[in-house]
Amino acid sequence: MSTRPVEIAPSVLSADFLRLGAQVSEALEAGVRRIHVDVMDGHFVPNLTMGPLVVATLRPLAERVGAVLEVHLMIAEPDRYLDVFSHAGASAMTVHVEACLQLHRTVHAIRHLAAQPGVAINPATPVAALEEILPDIDVALVMSVDPGFGGQVFIPGTIGKVARLRAELVRRGLEHIEIEVDGGIGPENIRALAEAGMTIAVAGTSVFDPRAPVAENLRVLRAACGFGVNT
Ligand code: DX5
Ligand code: ZN
Repeated sequence: MSTRPVEIAPSVLSADFLRLGAQVSEALEAGVRRIHVDVMDGHFVPNLTMGPLVVATLRPLAERVGAVLEVHLMIAEPDRYLDVFSHAGASAMTVHVEACLQLHRTVHAIRHLAAQPGVAINPATPVAALEEILPDIDVALVMSVDPGFGGQVFIPGTIGKVARLRAELVRRGLEHIEIEVDGGIGPENIRALAEAGMTIAVAGTSVFDPRAPVAENLRVLRAACGFGVNT
């Protein structure tokens, strides 16, 4: 369990792209300070999504309120694109353990670009895969679905995995590292994840669910989380 507040990071993958700016502005007005952009290349994951153009488009909205613009790079050879995402305005960049042959080099390249380095693990990748890189990163991202699509079903074993990662951070005095969880998060599981030690909840479908305004969806998520939500 963490005593830190939980931050909600809306994933724009589930936004209405005809109204992307308005939807992101609505989230920012509701107090969100971390916007999650899912970058997919059709190689590392079986889907194609957004690139630097979308990041550059969102940049002024995020900068106006000092929000973090985070790219989740679900791409092969992410090193090739760090510069371009940095120039587009990404202030946090997360790469996958499974996509990086020289992870230490990649993480330090992100740091060198003055962005927060994050490292993600897929559901079948053990927490131990983060062991050596933990001291070098700001964000450990635990995938709670296999990456590739929004709207997938949450994998329940993620809760225990988050608890094991939290225990490892405590044991090693690395509690400043954020534990971010991504995929299938909604009112029904956000509290258990927070209790296990999650500090950032990525949420796409549950934030941009068109049946209610973004601000109302955020309110429901915060209420379900129950304690310490700071956005
Ligand atoms: C999945 C992406 C997630 C996804 C989250 O590959 O990394 O960020 O968009 O969306 P929901 O909340 O709908 O699972
Ligand atoms: Zn993501």
